[in-house]
Amino acid sequence: DPALVAEGEKVFKKCKACHQIGEGAKNKTGPELNNIIGRTLGGHDGFKYSKTMAEMGEGGLVWNDETLAEFLSKPKDYVKKTKMSFAGLKKDDDIAAVIAYLKSFSQ
Ligand code: HEM
Repeated sequence: DPALVAEGEKVFKKCKACHQIGEGAKNKTGPELNNIIGRTLGGHDGFKYSKTMAEMGEGGLVWNDETLAEFLSKPKDYVKKTKMSFAGLKKDDDIAAVIAYLKSFSQ
């Protein structure tokens, strides 16, 4: 849904301080987010994750609609002691939109 992706691009402004996405995206304060759908939690080579996020990935968790929605609503509840200093998105609509935007950069 292109309208939802466009909405998600606006929401992603809140993420841009730390994350890059799209052509040439690099790890910054946060990991780059291309192909995040289906990626193992804490799975980007060359990024130093919190112990918890790395361990959740080692346990087999991957990013999909459900895990992203949980994490983005309350990052610190889903990943205890996460390095992501972000309070979370309050509105379910914003979460759905930003996930649609992330998906548009995933195969
Ligand atoms: C991790 C998304 C905002 C810093 C992540 C991950 C996702 C994500 C999907 C997991 C990446 C992976 O497993 O490779 C988002 C979205 C945001 C947002 C959609 C906006 C709604 C921010 C902000 C910051 C930040 C504002 C910095 C203040 C980080 C860091 C990690 C991370 C440091 C690694 C977490 C850890 O190791 O526990 N983010 N993020 N993010 N993000 Fe964000």
